[in-house]
Amino acid sequence: MSLKFDFNNMISLNVGEHGVKQEDIDEILPFAHTAATHLKKIISDPGARVKLSLEWAKLHQQDKKQIDDIIKLGRQISLKYENVLFLGIGGSYLGLKAAQDALCPPYYNEFKTLRKKSARIYLEGNNLDPDTLQVLLKNLNPKKTFVVVISKSGETTETKVAFILVEQWLKKAIGKDFGRQVLAITDPESGSLRKRVNEEQKKDPLSFRSLPLLKGVGGRYSEFNMGLLHLAITGINIKELFEGVKDMASACSQDNVLKNPAYMYALLQVILYRKKAKSLSILMPFSQTLKSTADWYVQLLAESLGKKYHRKIENHDGLESWVTDKDNLFNRGPTPIAASGTNDLHSIQQNNVEGENNKVITFIRVQEFKTELKVPAKEAAFLAGKSFSQLMQIAQEATEWALTSEKRPNCTIIMPQVNAYYWGALLFFFEMATAFEGELFNVNAFDQPGVEGYKNYMYYKLGKPGIPPAVAEEIKKKPLIKDPKYIL
Ligand code: PA5
Repeated sequence: MSLKFDFNNMISLNVGEHGVKQEDIDEILPFAHTAATHLKKIISDPGARVKLSLEWAKLHQQDKKQIDDIIKLGRQISLKYENVLFLGIGGSYLGLKAAQDALCPPYYNEFKTLRKKSARIYLEGNNLDPDTLQVLLKNLNPKKTFVVVISKSGETTETKVAFILVEQWLKKAIGKDFGRQVLAITDPESGSLRKRVNEEQKKDPLSFRSLPLLKGVGGRYSEFNMGLLHLAITGINIKELFEGVKDMASACSQDNVLKNPAYMYALLQVILYRKKAKSLSILMPFSQTLKSTADWYVQLLAESLGKKYHRKIENHDGLESWVTDKDNLFNRGPTPIAASGTNDLHSIQQNNVEGENNKVITFIRVQEFKTELKVPAKEAAFLAGKSFSQLMQIAQEATEWALTSEKRPNCTIIMPQVNAYYWGALLFFFEMATAFEGELFNVNAFDQPGVEGYKNYMYYKLGKPGIPPAVAEEIKKKPLIKDPKYIL
């Protein structure tokens, strides 16, 4: 059994003029085939893959010995420490959180029996709100806590300031050997975190151990690289996960766009965005444990496709490179929204059914839950004897029906179970679909220049040295205007 993508309700057959027609597919298909050939060419060329940031497409082929070593290290850390504190943000956080919620038992930290001797997991450094980190630092025992700091660039403010405080906290309790309780996951060569690791390692090889991130794997595409130690520490079956990724990679390498699930998902989303003005993309898993996976998808879609400019492909001596085409404004991209069933049926669903018809909703339907609950036979009249999973399936089907009967395009990913195999497959499916959407929109799906704006402003305000004069000038020229008459 594999994941299935059911797109019946994206088609005009079910949602009339709001759906995709055969002629819409026929129109885009030649371009989609060219896009598929282009993507395949890059993915099959190791140099181009790294250069253009598509190495994530081959992470299931990572060195087995290295993965075994990470699994071993994860077990050692988990057995030795009561807590593991991960610091990271964006792509260095959302994949971990998604895996934690999907693949570890709910309430994992609360109950020892659920953790099966593994350490408790805390995820921090993903915000500048002082209230969360300070609670942890006041309540965790530093002597029993291992710290994993994750930052590809090694420069991200949120992670950096959290790590400074965590380091002081460790040092105060442990003394000069505190670095033996720290592991850094960062770029193999560049950034201040890498520099720090190299310095500490020279002094003491057991201090600031590190796992390098692979080249050509951007933050939001890096769960199967950067997230491995977290998976190992929590005892998630990494081998099974990679089996799922491998099988999905094989399904998504199908040249025929019409038979390739990720390409079809992307193609239909792009048609609905361009021709039917469906600018919102809502991911609504019908599973509480997949809500954070929807949050992970929000970052993937937003940073990959929401772009100011189109991409220009250049070829020099047979080597392809992508540049931002500043003469070719895009200023578009679907807006992702994370929701979950059934809780959001009592929230966003009203707007989905009766508000503006400007969205595509993707459901994830889980066929078999890990456990089961039943309403007792003599209770609650027509609900008597019904299982929770049965109720969940009917709720999902009912939501599909409610939307479809109001001509709201939607589709369903059918996931046999939420386990490592299918979860790996699910993430790869979305990654490949997003990469293909990038091809169809002709944008670079692997950079995030829009994130720089706020960073520059912050650095300017904080007096960070080295801000380019043009950037500083721009900020001075365009200050935020706060007229009191517009503040009540
Ligand atoms: O997808 C990306 O590359 C970004 O969202 C990063 O993950 C995020 O900005 C965090 O960066 P870093 O890992 O360098 O701290």
